[in-house]
Amino acid sequence: MNIFEELESEVRSYSRSFPTVFTSAKNARLHSRDGNSYIDFLAGAGTLNYGHNNDHFKQPLIDYIESDGITHGLDMYTEAKEGFLNALNEIILKPRDLDYKVQFTGPTGTNAVEVALKIARKHKGRTGIVSFTNGYHGCTLGSQAVTGNKGQRAGAVVSLGDVTRIPYDDYGDQSEDFMGLKLLDQMLSDPGSGVEVPAGVIAETVQGEGGLNAARIEWLKELEALCRKHDMLLIIDDIQAGCGRTGSFFSFEPAGIKPDIVTLSKSLSGYGLPFAITLLRPDLDDWQPAEHNGTFRGNNLAFITARVALEKYWQDDELMRDVKQKGEFIGQRFNDMAKRFSGELKVKGRGMMRGIEVESGEIAGQICKEAFSNGLAVETSGSWGQVVKCLCPLTIPMADLKEGLDILEKAFAKVLPEANAQAS
Ligand SMILES: Cc1ncc(COP(=O)(O)O)c(C=O)c1O
Repeated sequence: MNIFEELESEVRSYSRSFPTVFTSAKNARLHSRDGNSYIDFLAGAGTLNYGHNNDHFKQPLIDYIESDGITHGLDMYTEAKEGFLNALNEIILKPRDLDYKVQFTGPTGTNAVEVALKIARKHKGRTGIVSFTNGYHGCTLGSQAVTGNKGQRAGAVVSLGDVTRIPYDDYGDQSEDFMGLKLLDQMLSDPGSGVEVPAGVIAETVQGEGGLNAARIEWLKELEALCRKHDMLLIIDDIQAGCGRTGSFFSFEPAGIKPDIVTLSKSLSGYGLPFAITLLRPDLDDWQPAEHNGTFRGNNLAFITARVALEKYWQDDELMRDVKQKGEFIGQRFNDMAKRFSGELKVKGRGMMRGIEVESGEIAGQICKEAFSNGLAVETSGSWGQVVKCLCPLTIPMADLKEGLDILEKAFAKVLPEANAQAS
């Protein structure tokens, strides 16, 4: 038994799907101790949008460390934080006409979500939150309460209350358009429904862990309108879909909506360093000093790489043009694969956040296992783990992307019969 299996908790998960010891990585390639190389379609579950060990960020980080720059700063003012705030304001917020206060939270996505839920409840003086089927928002109790997944909810053991869940876009009976939103509207308008107006609504624009369900742009607009109609705060959890993954810095940009609260983490630091923020409409900033605290709200190494990431990739549209092209390429390849293989295959997602749904989690698991044995790290998502999820770095070279997709297609071919073979 190796030291991992001997000492590390049974809670470990990715290491079960990718049972090797990794040693180094560059852009979209991972290397393991046994001399194998893997194309990375996992990208730290969306944390490595700019690839592993991006050279543009590495040297500034090394220079900062060598100069004995502040590494840990609680929430004190530092030059590194100042640089990040200026870059966020000038490069991202102002050009998009977005007026937000920035709250530095604990460095994981779930803490940014806790902050969003807390401030919404505090500001409105209401306990309820509305969330959606298949939403995933993290593993602390508040975030878990708004998460759909049964397995993860089970880990809480205490009651996960004060949440009303409604169907996401494209969930369940679709005979009526915007079914979930219409139902919510009706329930909030009906004094007999038993549903009280909540403090806010939390949603992902593309559900990353929930199965690459991409809400339609019109659905997002409708959601915003509903929030305005019933005086509910709109919280967009952009932790996985943000930072360029779907083709714009914020995934909600194509809808032209202005959420009241936005959570960001994962690829925000650019380098895989822990970092999370919650963006608040300025009038929502009702906090007393230290009312939401945390020792690691000042990861200054992350401030450095996050600033450089914004400066390098967000001052022009080169990266987003690339994402559009690669996203369409992945979508096309997935459409071809969905036609080629038998079963009810469904192509899902938006931008470079794409997946193929197969008939069961077991089949998806077999495909990913086969892919890994041929040099591709790729995971599943969805309530049954039934969606093969492609989340490669946005910076993946075209040659690696093609090779990765070829490996994936071969894995599909190994597990699923050809559609024509079945028909004949
Ligand atoms: C949309 C979304 N919100 C929140 C989280 C939680 O982030 P973390 O795992 O950093 O706590 C995740 C993680 O996958 C996520 O995808």
